[in-house]
Amino acid sequence: MLFTNLSNMPDQFSKYWPPQDERIQQALLSVYQDGDWGRYHGKRTEQLAEQLAERFAMPHVHLVCSGTVGIELALRGLGVTSGDEVILAGYDFPGNFRCIEAVGARPVLADVEVASWSLSVNSFEQAISASTKAVIVSSLHGGLADVTRITAIARQHGIGVVEDICQIPGAKVSGKIAGSLGDVSVLSFGGSKLLSAGRGGAVLAKNEAIWQRIHVFKERGNDTYALSQLQAAVLLPQLEKLDERNAIRTTSALQIIAATEGIAQLQSLAHESGDHPVFYKIAWAMPSCQQRAALLTRAQELELPLFEGFRGFVKRSDRRCSKPVDLSHSTRAAETTVLLHHPALLAAPGEVESLGQQVKDLFEEYC
Ligand SMILES: Cc1ncc(COP(=O)(O)O)c(C=O)c1O
Repeated sequence: MLFTNLSNMPDQFSKYWPPQDERIQQALLSVYQDGDWGRYHGKRTEQLAEQLAERFAMPHVHLVCSGTVGIELALRGLGVTSGDEVILAGYDFPGNFRCIEAVGARPVLADVEVASWSLSVNSFEQAISASTKAVIVSSLHGGLADVTRITAIARQHGIGVVEDICQIPGAKVSGKIAGSLGDVSVLSFGGSKLLSAGRGGAVLAKNEAIWQRIHVFKERGNDTYALSQLQAAVLLPQLEKLDERNAIRTTSALQIIAATEGIAQLQSLAHESGDHPVFYKIAWAMPSCQQRAALLTRAQELELPLFEGFRGFVKRSDRRCSKPVDLSHSTRAAETTVLLHHPALLAAPGEVESLGQQVKDLFEEYC
């Protein structure tokens, strides 16, 4: 069986994640000592919401139980409802498609950019119809969507922009913090994420009306999708360390990408100058599906943290979604993407160098 999710990933680099630092240990101890771990409300969630609002320049925050629920709530916050269309990339996190269905709207697929694995501006523009109410813009696998241009186009059509920053907390797009560019953005604090509480997420809204709609939906005598004090406690010290850890990951990722450059037919990430990517994964596209399967089998034998990408939605039936534009890049991404998972990026420089060499050798053999 191939490693297709994180529950059966190899051990070689798992010692680097989740982080085992003293600050997190202290945070757990203090939430135990003051009893907030057993309360509905406490100071940790307040502090976390305040710090997220400031860092992501989005004033209205809901802390929630997952990134997936966060995307659904973001759509509800924009007033998306049955009969509306929501555009998303044909290659994206599977839950995003389901969230559109969950609010009764219809997913409309647009294509991705080849070099960023993320929603293409032109394809998004072509997919707009009179029924388009919102767009979900995910930045995936170390790539960055051009949210600035997507938002500018969305504004002209009265379309709400959900920025899915679950994979890129702390990234900058054209010098601005990702998550601050659309109308509402979503973070995940899931077990594999760069800010992790095992589970959890946050919805960051630009205006109060969005926040209020979400509040009304989830308030049922109690906050139905809440994040606990215990979760907030372990996130606070990680937020402090985020930039430092992102910088280490970026140095490692760029080194590994550089090691694989020049391999014929292998395609890797490219960034605009002025962008500061964040690496939750590193993506490559192999020449073919068959070669990918063979490479991943070998990677598994070598205990290298390489995985398949998402399956994408291009093959989903026309009953469930609309496909008004060419989706060939999404098809290729679904069939040929190989991902390297982030814990390895925090390894010592020597280990990263040798990983880069192993990954290069493997791609050379199978491309
Ligand atoms: C791009 C993207 N969006 C949303 C999510 C959902 O986050 P969660 O696992 O917290 O539900 C993920 C999780 O992998 C993701 O990668």
